[in-house]
Amino acid sequence: MVRVLGIETSCDETAAALVEAGTPGLRLIRERLATRPEESAALGGIVPELTVRQHLELLPKIVQEVLGKEDALAAVGATAGPGLAPALLVGLAFGKSLAWAYKSSFHAINHLEGHIFSPFVSRGKWPENPHLALIASGGHTLLVDVPDVSHRKIIGSTRDDAAGEAFDKLARMVGLGYPGGPEIEKEAAKGEVGKIKLPRPMQGSEEGDFSFSGLKNAARLLLEKKPEIAQPGASRSDFCAEAQAAIAECLADRCRLALRKTGRKLLTVSGGVSANRTVARALEEAARAEGATWLSPSAGWNTDNAGMIAAVTARRCLDGVESDWESDADPRWSVASGQNGE
Ligand code: KG4
Ligand code: ZN
Repeated sequence: MVRVLGIETSCDETAAALVEAGTPGLRLIRERLATRPEESAALGGIVPELTVRQHLELLPKIVQEVLGKEDALAAVGATAGPGLAPALLVGLAFGKSLAWAYKSSFHAINHLEGHIFSPFVSRGKWPENPHLALIASGGHTLLVDVPDVSHRKIIGSTRDDAAGEAFDKLARMVGLGYPGGPEIEKEAAKGEVGKIKLPRPMQGSEEGDFSFSGLKNAARLLLEKKPEIAQPGASRSDFCAEAQAAIAECLADRCRLALRKTGRKLLTVSGGVSANRTVARALEEAARAEGATWLSPSAGWNTDNAGMIAAVTARRCLDGVESDWESDADPRWSVASGQNGE
């Protein structure tokens, strides 16, 4: 068994996690996560300088709490991309120093690989390959074919907005807070699908990509014509229910096509949008319709977290992969690469 620390600072979450891992599986020992969504909401989104200051201020405290009296670490891993370059650099520099001090190996981790691991490692097990992974977050909407631990192929991506971004923008249009996904989900619970009509872009298309700009534009035109929908009340709830159903159906439709094309029998979903119950239900049905099984992260592992980064680090460590001391932050690091950016 090895004990491994993971650090996550790719966006506005400052997080660290300690895991214990071995061949049969792994378990989370401790984790801490801090974020300031109210600050981002008040400013209409993330302000890079404030985010970097938050990481600099909070990361040492968080890591200290997570490590406790730990006197040995086999490896330290930090997210090296994709993400906000200056934010990534804070975690990378801190992680390398810590690995140096503990005389452990250091690993630069791809944030999206962490998401791909999360449905499995949140349940204490290593990824089962091959599988098809949907990543649906605020910055990414990707369908990734994963034949084994060191190979990943992107078979679908968004042509415009990410699914989480669509939730965030639609929420803002009707006066709801940030992040918009959970706000829309809450409001949608009081509404009815189909009372207001919104399009399902790309549905039925034989191309594997996603697109959410048509939905956003249709919503904007509708709200220009009927601004009363944006006011608190029944029609705003109906709008949210319809918007949520449209996003869920688009995701499920693309997953069905990808399952058919690849013949994979396991579909996973990760990223903030996978926390949405309507989305989860639609994906579960899509998998069942194609004769596949379905797995999503357990609570707390959908959105950005350090447990998933620690888990990928532990896998590297157990596989005997060498340290990445020379690694730099890569804001656009593709998940399609193999290990260590090959
Ligand atoms: O994975 P994540 O924490 O960060 C990124 O890597 O982007 O995802 C954040 C995104 C936000 O756009 C947020 O609105 C969305 O995930 N999200 C949700 C829900 N919870 C978070 N979207 C729909 N329903 C939710 N319950
Ligand atoms: Zn993420």
